[in-house]
Amino acid sequence: MKHQIILLGFLFSGMITVQAQPSATIIAHPNEAELVINKHIYGHFAEHLGRCIYDGFYVGEGNAKIPNTQGVRNDIIDALKKLKVPNLRWPGGCFADTYHWKDGIGPKDKRPKMVNVWWGGVTEDNSFGTHDFLNMCEAIGAAPYLAANVGSGEVKELSDWVQYVNFDGISPMSNLRKENGREKPWNVSFWGVGNEAWGCGGNMKPEYYANIYRQYATFMTDWTNSSKLFRIASGSNGNDYNWTEVLMRDIPLNMLDGLALHHYSVIDWNSKGPSTTFTEEQYFATMKQALMMEELVTRHSTIMDKYDPKKKVALVVDEWGGWYTVEDGTNPGFLYQQNTMRDAMIAGTTLNIFNNHADRVRMANLAQTINVLQAVILTQEEKMILTPTYHVMEMYNVHQDAKLVPLNLKTKDYVLGNQKLPAISASASVDKNGVVHVSIVNIDSKNAHDVSIDLLSSAYKNVSGRILTSAKLQDFNSFDNPEKIKPAGFKGAILKANNLTAKIPPFSVVVLELK
Ligand code: AHR
Repeated sequence: MKHQIILLGFLFSGMITVQAQPSATIIAHPNEAELVINKHIYGHFAEHLGRCIYDGFYVGEGNAKIPNTQGVRNDIIDALKKLKVPNLRWPGGCFADTYHWKDGIGPKDKRPKMVNVWWGGVTEDNSFGTHDFLNMCEAIGAAPYLAANVGSGEVKELSDWVQYVNFDGISPMSNLRKENGREKPWNVSFWGVGNEAWGCGGNMKPEYYANIYRQYATFMTDWTNSSKLFRIASGSNGNDYNWTEVLMRDIPLNMLDGLALHHYSVIDWNSKGPSTTFTEEQYFATMKQALMMEELVTRHSTIMDKYDPKKKVALVVDEWGGWYTVEDGTNPGFLYQQNTMRDAMIAGTTLNIFNNHADRVRMANLAQTINVLQAVILTQEEKMILTPTYHVMEMYNVHQDAKLVPLNLKTKDYVLGNQKLPAISASASVDKNGVVHVSIVNIDSKNAHDVSIDLLSSAYKNVSGRILTSAKLQDFNSFDNPEKIKPAGFKGAILKANNLTAKIPPFSVVVLELK
């Protein structure tokens, strides 16, 4: 008691100052910013699945209730432009390996119908096809990423598709394109050669797929005037490192531009848990899966480094996100789920991981854009809402094509029972105007964390910020309350010379701007 009084006496007399230890310390190295964070890390994915394309993007040319351009909703085009979507992957997914692109061109009333065997067994009338997708990408300002049918298609089918969309001269395919109303080619750069070849794309072994890839890639002629073909091989299922090893070993580097990787934050494939009424244990398990991305990216990159030390081939994480049980009353094959602050945590931490691995991860696609899995947009007839994931992607778009600022991060843990995960995740970049952005996520469900950042420079004079948070982790935007969660100004950051401090509330995403 006596000692305490003496200590208090010192404190009040101002003779010593006791400062609380920060929960996380970061040393930032803005002077070492060299690597560019490729904007294509911020890509999205649109599959013919459930209500992503039909009753999502596409409501039909004749729709008088919902304003649209050639059948694509105008409100969606505007929202995705604001998001700065750099690329959009289409038409699948598993659907891609059943899709025959020639069924989706020409007069819509003459297009053959098919059954979407992977997703709900619904009839696909092919009314949204190649022209619809590529024109929509132009409207959004996104580069198209076409996923070709390798599983049930043919080499000629892919080689014709490349010629149809990219050739400017006279040829059977370019003539057909012109007959269908498009004079100039679209110059599509990104091409996926099959999807999940280890699973729905054909259940192949890596050695077999590597040979097939070489064959298909050989007949993909580069007709583009402005851009080079960027061929992406179907990649590993999560931690199947042997898949990456075999493909890197067996495919010559001059035939390969990208190698894919798929990883979903799913608790258990047999019991995925609800999208909104999840427990804290389920939240923790989801975040454990999300943070697993760090290990996956690191280990796949290490294998790629062995065969490609100059890092020519990009690691393309073209499917990622949270996957839960579908909403009650919806078709289980449609994968429709709500999107809460848990999804904001997945998005923020995953994008920080991608940014920090900018040397190898140069493209990625969140699954999926509208009404499917971890969507950025949900629709209900003429209504449309932006999810917490949309807001994180929008807050983070400042990192697109900026230079990565290396960080050394030490953080306390988010503890649940005897399990723990790092509480704070961060990444930073400097843009072409010299403005630094730091994105910080606190995944701790209960505790705020004080973050202290040494900028190793006192060149910055002002700090401002935005925050995404809510009262409960389970909160979401609904059609009745569409703006419950949206970014707000963040006033909790203090800049003193080279030291930046901020108190980051539980389950929140903060993006700071330093000038
Ligand atoms: O995104 C949903 C599905 O997940 C995709 O069609 C497939 O590639 C993956 O298994």
